[in-house]
Amino acid sequence: MGNNIMVVDDDYSMRNLVIETLEELEYYGVELLTAENGEEALETIKTKKPELVILDIMMPVMDGFEVCDIIKNKLGMKDTYIMMLTADGQEYNKQKGKDVGADVFMTKPFDPDEIIKVVSEVLGIIWNDKYSVNISLIDEQHKKLFEYINKAKRAERFSNNQKKVLEILGQMAEYALKHFETEEHYMKEFNFTGYKSHRNEHVYFTNTVNEHKNRTVDGGYQITSETLEYLVHWYFNHIQVIDKEYIDFFKKNGLK
Ligand SMILES: [Fe+2]
Ligand SMILES: [Fe+2]
Repeated sequence: MGNNIMVVDDDYSMRNLVIETLEELEYYGVELLTAENGEEALETIKTKKPELVILDIMMPVMDGFEVCDIIKNKLGMKDTYIMMLTADGQEYNKQKGKDVGADVFMTKPFDPDEIIKVVSEVLGIIWNDKYSVNISLIDEQHKKLFEYINKAKRAERFSNNQKKVLEILGQMAEYALKHFETEEHYMKEFNFTGYKSHRNEHVYFTNTVNEHKNRTVDGGYQITSETLEYLVHWYFNHIQVIDKEYIDFFKKNGLK
């Protein structure tokens, strides 16, 4: 999982200020990348595929609009979030930014608390070893589910596009089902005594996600951030409490 942030600004002090503000994220394994112009940024972006690009507008060589247009439209990296830094009072730049696909706007001079808040929301839940069940196949699947959750939350928070949220929830439900089948497969194979109650939890989650998904289709119903928070909360609790109950048992039966 990428979890890189790229800061692009030709002004050294500005770049530094953003990096200093975001430094605490390094503790969570987020890599902070910088570039002083658009061309340099694009080189790194192509290989590092950052989750978020914080982009200045006025830059030599290539301006922020062009960089954004290349990332979103020419390279088709729609999942890379673009935060544009606009100077105070230049509202017209927002529209220009939106036209080339920028997702979020931040006015310079920015409030450090505000930028960290928005960045945290874009990054979403960052995988941490404390979530690990120490079985690589299952950890990989849990990470993937985190990605879906983050994607859904981002779509709800920033694009305000219910169709997109719904689409992601659908993908998440599908993936969750696959993941649950993996866990249940081993529980059955090894005769895990907690199989039935664990399976009930899985069924509950799948039904809840599907219910929201279908209600939205029926028209008028909106998926709210509270609903997503509820799903996130359930999932967190599940992998940190319920899934941990099978670790020793699975390990004893040879899963790594
Ligand atoms: Fe799980
Ligand atoms: Fe589970």
